[in-house]
Amino acid sequence: MGEAGRLFTDGDAYERMMGRWSRLVGVAFLDWLDAPQRLRWLDVGCGNGAFTEELVARCAPAAVTAIDPSEDQLAFARTRSAAKMAQFQVGDAQELPFGDGSFDVAIMALVISFLQDPAKAVVELARVVRPGGWVATYMWDVPGGGVPVAPISTAVKSMGLASTGPPNPAASLREAMQGLWEKAGLAAIETRVIRIPVTYSSFDDFWNSNSVPVGPQGKLIAGMSPGAREQLRTRLRDQLPAASDGRIVYESFANAVKGRVPG
Ligand SMILES: C[S@@+](CC[C@H](N)C(=O)[O-])C[C@H]1O[C@@H](n2cnc3c(N)ncnc32)[C@H](O)[C@@H]1O
Repeated sequence: MGEAGRLFTDGDAYERMMGRWSRLVGVAFLDWLDAPQRLRWLDVGCGNGAFTEELVARCAPAAVTAIDPSEDQLAFARTRSAAKMAQFQVGDAQELPFGDGSFDVAIMALVISFLQDPAKAVVELARVVRPGGWVATYMWDVPGGGVPVAPISTAVKSMGLASTGPPNPAASLREAMQGLWEKAGLAAIETRVIRIPVTYSSFDDFWNSNSVPVGPQGKLIAGMSPGAREQLRTRLRDQLPAASDGRIVYESFANAVKGRVPG
């Protein structure tokens, strides 16, 4: 497993930190993709299955194959009763263990910025989809501050510390996605921005959800001294936009792209 794979090793913690936002943006993405029913889907970088569950619930797939490099995340995904029909297996986006044209649609949900070689992965997705099928992805706009954990990066930087993030932030930009889809030879390419409301019931909900040791920011917090952690907590409490009832509410946004395999 590569370095990026090691960022996501706890399916339960992922559920709390990102699962709820992953589902919100995932539902909007599936509505936009508007794929027919009874297709053979490939879900690449499925992680703990947060998106896979929505896909099974909403798209009436004929079959779903879901891959991820993290065995721990896959173990959590297999416990989801709503995703029971999916086949979860270990695999790498950049070297898909499937023959040409094996699927009708291949997607990557919140994955592209975690890849060392996004271009190779998109070519692989296009290869394993049959002519006329769909290849699509979405990712939080990392450089634009669209990630739900963006307030943590801002607070970490304001402490004079180096922040962290996925290895390939630029791949999450809309123009970058358009370029990757074009280079992979896909047709009928469209892109869009998906905005979602991020709401925590209280500051404690925000902190307890995001200080779990999963993802780049979670791993950073886990490695801090108790003093630095407390300082970060105080900063976040001061900086986050709290509503009068104590809820924390802000907007996150992802870029999405879809295209079709020619022929
Ligand atoms: C932010 S999570 C997204 C999980 C899930 N798709 C979702 O929408 O909630 C990113 C996932 O990318 C996976 N990943 C990292 N490197 C990968 C690679 N080379 N190939 C496939 N998946 C990879 C990680 O293991 C992790 O599960």
